[in-house]
Amino acid sequence: MTVATPGSTAKPPPATEGDPRNPIHNVFWRRHRSEVEEDLSRLRSEPLTFFPGFQFVDELAGIKTPGAWVVPRHAPILEVSRKPQIYSSAQGVTINDFPPEFNEYFNSIIAMDDPRHARLRRLVSAGFTPRMLARLEDSVRDQASMIVDEVCERGECDFVTDVAARLPLRIVCDLMGIPASEHDFVFDQSNIILGAADEEYVPEFGDLITAILTAGESLSRLMDDVAESKVGVESEDLTSILVNAEVDGERLTRAELASFFILLVVAGNETTRNAISWGLVYLTDNDDQRRI
Ligand code: HEM
Repeated sequence: MTVATPGSTAKPPPATEGDPRNPIHNVFWRRHRSEVEEDLSRLRSEPLTFFPGFQFVDELAGIKTPGAWVVPRHAPILEVSRKPQIYSSAQGVTINDFPPEFNEYFNSIIAMDDPRHARLRRLVSAGFTPRMLARLEDSVRDQASMIVDEVCERGECDFVTDVAARLPLRIVCDLMGIPASEHDFVFDQSNIILGAADEEYVPEFGDLITAILTAGESLSRLMDDVAESKVGVESEDLTSILVNAEVDGERLTRAELASFFILLVVAGNETTRNAISWGLVYLTDNDDQRRI
């Protein structure tokens, strides 16, 4: 999620601070990508490496950063994934440990071990049937064509803003049955949650905790409104299915629905936007791959 540097005050750390060899510091990622790639490829030669943490100060003292293991290869990743007794997700899955208030909005399926994880997974799998996925595939294709057509008509674009950011936003919002009038709002709030250490999204870095909590709360309120409108309604969006899903007499509580919703809109937006953007960079750099 958010990363800062040792000894940082409440202000955004200058890019020169911190340890550029430690991937839990922002400065690691702010370097030229050839340097980042060199370090990542060195990391991949080890099954796991531990990177020491640091302590935030002042307004951010409630955030603990005890350090993190980097597990860059397939076999150890499988090992970690299959042994929740040792490698638990239930203590949180982000590099920074946030204060307990965060649980209300961010304690979703990603931060659970079995049996809680299995229960939630059974309930949400109602929304991922082959029929739902076929519908989603059509929606992805339609939205992608529309976005490319819009850009072609104009003859130029900012690829990140006009293509890479727009596609996942529309897909995820459409999937969740969020009205188009709220799409920009969802985009802005999810940027605060995942990009809070970036001055472009949260100018007052000192208010990071409040900014993230407020964004979580406003997305949770939006989910409540959308969910309310779906009760008893037969509709094909994921929120309708989740609101009305029942497995062995159990339903998702409103709090579970809200944090699942926040996870989906946040996880679905930022990850894919970056993957599409970097995809274009690498296709541009690798002509043979681009031709394929
Ligand atoms: C390039 C795109 C994406 C990347 C790189 C990515 C990466 C990840 C990773 C690494 C995890 C596991 C985290 C952990 O075990 O602690 C995860 C989990 C998850 N992601 Fe993604 N993700 C992407 C796209 C998406 C999209 C589009 C959605 C939804 C619309 C999504 C929803 C989720 C959910 C719900 C989980 C939790 C699953 C569980 O705990 O059972 N992700 N993602």
